Amino acid sequence: MAEAPNAPASAPTEEELSRAGLKLAVDGQVARITISRPERRNAMTGRTWTTLARIGRTLPDGVRIVVVTGEGDIFSAGIDLNMFTPEGVDGERSIVAGLADGSADEAALEEYIAGLQEGFLWLRRPDLVTVAAVRGHAIGAGFQLALSCDIRVLADDASLCMKEPALGLVPDLTGTKPLVDIVGVHRAVEICLTARRVGAREARELGLAELVVGVDELRGAVDDLVGGLLATNPDAATATKALLQQAAGNTLEQQAAAERRAQIGRLTALAEAMAAGSR
Ligand code: CAA
Repeated sequence: MAEAPNAPASAPTEEELSRAGLKLAVDGQVARITISRPERRNAMTGRTWTTLARIGRTLPDGVRIVVVTGEGDIFSAGIDLNMFTPEGVDGERSIVAGLADGSADEAALEEYIAGLQEGFLWLRRPDLVTVAAVRGHAIGAGFQLALSCDIRVLADDASLCMKEPALGLVPDLTGTKPLVDIVGVHRAVEICLTARRVGAREARELGLAELVVGVDELRGAVDDLVGGLLATNPDAATATKALLQQAAGNTLEQQAAAERRAQIGRLTALAEAMAAGSR
């Protein structure tokens, strides 16, 4: 059965999270999302991504940092390959249903994929800083999920692979833009069209990892990073991330103008806070 592309706006229940292969722990300003299907090497399904989208839509107020990680010694083996079989994954639509005999509704399939992409897109929200903590393989959709985050912290056993072209597919879960933004189109072509594994050390050299640490240090390194991120003013952090996100698409003049507008907003807020404090 096809899932509705736009899942309900209520927060997923524990049972729904579990069926989607996800765990969610919110502690004050920090949400930790764990991809958790260890028996399938944390492979993800359509339900994983529609549920991720719901998590994004229903995060409690005040959450500023989202850490995305995988259960055990792997980030994710990517899409559950059973999604491409006519039977699909238990309780979920097969992505290929009806395509061979022409009975599939392509517009509906495009809408369905857009719903899956929602699970990745919200991780760019300027009011959040999102961190991928990667151990072991991040393959296909797993790599794209890591690319959707602002910061990638890799354990030294991490391995990134854009496997889709090797399977006759394209990466369609919003990963191509950040990949090109980070490594440039030429390196992105090489990485995608060979579908080779990029190890942690090379990932750091290419800018695909902000930090590489020993496997046993991953949790502590991410906690330290989160502590540092929480030390900044939340509204300034949101305004700064928004500025940084538009920089690549702006001319220098446009970006300078955007900086001025953002700073006037910040100065106004600070002046108002000072005035209120002195009353
Ligand atoms: N989908 C479904 N099941 C998977 C899976 C996947 N992506 N990856 C692993 N599993 C299952 C295996 O079938 C196996 O199941 P059984 O115990 O029932 O046999 C179990 O998980 C353990 O797998 P392995 O024995 O292979 O574990 P490993 O540690 O030796 O290897 C791995 C791990 C390198 C991730 C390997 O499992 C692998 O290469 N998996 C497939 C990766 C893949 O091709 N993913 C799809 C990429 S494309 C994409 O994500 C996006 C897209 O197309 C749009």
